[in-house]
Amino acid sequence: MNPVSLGWCFRLLGFSLGLVGLIGSGSIVEAQEPLTEEELSPLMTEVRFIVQDAELHIDARYWPDLGEDLDKLFPMFRRVEAFWEARGTESAVGFTQEAIEALREIGAAGIAMEQGPARAGIRSLRAVCQSCHEAHREEEGDGYRIKAGS
Ligand code: HEC
Repeated sequence: MNPVSLGWCFRLLGFSLGLVGLIGSGSIVEAQEPLTEEELSPLMTEVRFIVQDAELHIDARYWPDLGEDLDKLFPMFRRVEAFWEARGTESAVGFTQEAIEALREIGAAGIAMEQGPARAGIRSLRAVCQSCHEAHREEEGDGYRIKAGS
């Protein structure tokens, strides 16, 4: 085997390992520790960036990239859901489930490669972000915190 094809072999191997890693990370997500109060705000900030990415990917019709955004957002919102469930804040659990529903809408639009419905899904998602923030978030200094009693 000449060095060139050896190189290809390694690249293919790396690729397959990458796939195994991707599949494996799914179960790591499932097994993650419950989200703490301190972790909610950094997670939210990450959510905001990924939703911005998703919007750009819809504008550019980069559907596989949109799929990757959703692969990150679904487990994040599952953790958020578990967080509010553990806290017993039912209305926040409801908002989180609405957000997951909006993600499904975006996912279906992505699979169908339909820009209009995908944008509509992003609008529904943002409306849920806003509703939950109004209900359960308050300003503190130059940042935010969970509203007292939420
Ligand atoms: C179930 C309720 C809920 C939903 C849904 C929700 N958020 Fe939040 N979000 C909060 C709460 C509560 C905080 C305050 C957390 C803190 O600061 O401890 C927050 C904080 C944030 C912050 C500020 C981080 C900080 O504290 O400085 C950003 C950014 C944010 N959310 C983005 C989003 C986006 C984007 C969405 C929708 C895609 C969303 N959130 C959906 C409840 C929610």
